[in-house]
Amino acid sequence: MSPSIFLNLLCLGIASAVPKADHGLDAQWNQWTATHGKLYNETEEGWRRAVWEKNVKMIELHNQEYSQGKHSFTMAMNAFGDMTSEEFRQMMNGLQHQKHRKGKVFQESPFAEIPPSVDWRKKGYVTPVKDQV
Ligand SMILES: *[C@@H]1O[C@H](CO)[C@@H](O)[C@H](O)[C@H]1NC(C)=O
Repeated sequence: MSPSIFLNLLCLGIASAVPKADHGLDAQWNQWTATHGKLYNETEEGWRRAVWEKNVKMIELHNQEYSQGKHSFTMAMNAFGDMTSEEFRQMMNGLQHQKHRKGKVFQESPFAEIPPSVDWRKKGYVTPVKDQV
């Protein structure tokens, strides 16, 4: 392999490593940012969108598996869709400390749908319904 071909391949590899928006999700992204009042600068928007797309795809896959009987609950996109699971955990821990609660809140996923038969809201374990959009 000639050095110039090798360099070209190397450059291609780097270019494809940069998160690239899936333009099929543009409308959904615009609607989601508008619904939740998200405003990002250009630097932040690129990687927030990448996180969000990853979450969108994870939710779709989970719900497909749900329809095959692999899970007992479905998931839906909500206001936390641009957070990594690490950020979400930190936020939940922060809230817990603020409230001086004892014990751990069960948190399957930030996107887990609330079972219709149990009103976790009354137990103070989940955010208001408006955040479930
Ligand atoms: C964009 O926003 C991020 C997060 O709020 C901040 O850290 C960064 O400095 C901002 N960059 C510019 C160019 O304003």
